[in-house]
Amino acid sequence: MCIADSEMVTDKYSFIDEALHERRTQNLFRRLRAVDPLNDVEVNLEGKTVINFSSNDYLGFSKHPKLKKRSIEYIKKFGTGSTASRLICGSMPFFDKIEEKLAELKGTEKTLIFNSGFQANISILPSLCNRSSLILSDSLNHNSLIQGMLLSRCKVKKYTHNDHDHLNTMLKESLKENYSRIFIVTESVFSMDGDQSDINSLVSLAKENNAFLIVDEAHATGVLGPRGMGLTCGKGVDLVIGTFGKACGSFGAYAACSKPVREYLINCCSGLIYSTALPPSIIGAIDAALDLIPAMEDERRELLQKAQHLRSSLNHLGYHTGKSTTQIIPVIIGEEEETIRMARFLEEKGILGVPIRPPSVEKGGARIRLSVTAAHSWDHIDQLIHAFKKAK
Ligand SMILES: Cc1ncc(COP(=O)(O)O)c(C=O)c1O
Repeated sequence: MCIADSEMVTDKYSFIDEALHERRTQNLFRRLRAVDPLNDVEVNLEGKTVINFSSNDYLGFSKHPKLKKRSIEYIKKFGTGSTASRLICGSMPFFDKIEEKLAELKGTEKTLIFNSGFQANISILPSLCNRSSLILSDSLNHNSLIQGMLLSRCKVKKYTHNDHDHLNTMLKESLKENYSRIFIVTESVFSMDGDQSDINSLVSLAKENNAFLIVDEAHATGVLGPRGMGLTCGKGVDLVIGTFGKACGSFGAYAACSKPVREYLINCCSGLIYSTALPPSIIGAIDAALDLIPAMEDERRELLQKAQHLRSSLNHLGYHTGKSTTQIIPVIIGEEEETIRMARFLEEKGILGVPIRPPSVEKGGARIRLSVTAAHSWDHIDQLIHAFKKAK
């Protein structure tokens, strides 16, 4: 059969058309919108000024003068690029300095800088696990961890979110089987729900069952725990991952672990070995953020007070905020269409509260994910509450 050229081309792209059509009809279509920052909290969104309640800039660091200054100093001193991966010739002296500073703050023997949280998660898990390993994964883990598990090609079993009895049962059952090693993988603060893991309980379960515990602190770093350095500090977690792109105000990620685990990652983790090291400008911003974070107890206390006020006001108005206890507050609506309508309404009232839909959350769990930052004033919070009151 002879197929006309035009038909072949149509056919080649048909899966794209179908996927986009499916997303459009199911209210799951995503598009990029230009978000132009006006100051620490307001942005210009397609011609309208709105208060941003969707960023992860929890300490308001992304425009902090000290981070900008240090970043520029690093560029002047070291240039704009790191020129190669760490193992080739990109390991400039500032990496050691930052990694030592971070290890002291995290209370771990060592740390190792990665290019992003996503990159760390998709390369660390495959480097540690093999086809005969088992990962027990919290059911609400972030997509980057899930992708890492898929790439590791090991057996993955999900335990019910934060249900450590369920995890314990799965661990006991798994010990009867012949896995080469067993990993427990979780987040310390869940990105879409804003609730926390019980790290002490996870550490004891891991110890009792000889399992390797991995905790992602992307949303806790800078905000929670001793000196704001996360919920795992000094708790004996085998491997902690965190990012610098959220509360730390710039970009990049870290692993915090023992010396042998660090050496293992340097030798076996493809994300570190085969990617150009972070540029000096970013390391400068990280350096300044790590100097500032420990002393920001007052800002952290007030941030969590504002979040608590927002949560209880929303609950009082009849909104569901799940089990959130942190600066991340989901307003769980359920249906995608209704969630999009709510986001549009908020936008009309001068609020940016982005709708989060499946597959980022489970079907029926669409939500407006709000995040409070240190840059929001009490007045901003009241404006947000007022908008939700009007929506009712
Ligand atoms: C829990 C979690 N881990 C990892 C990442 C990825 O981090 P990064 O933005 O540094 O790639 C995110 C990003 O949202 C996250 O929420």
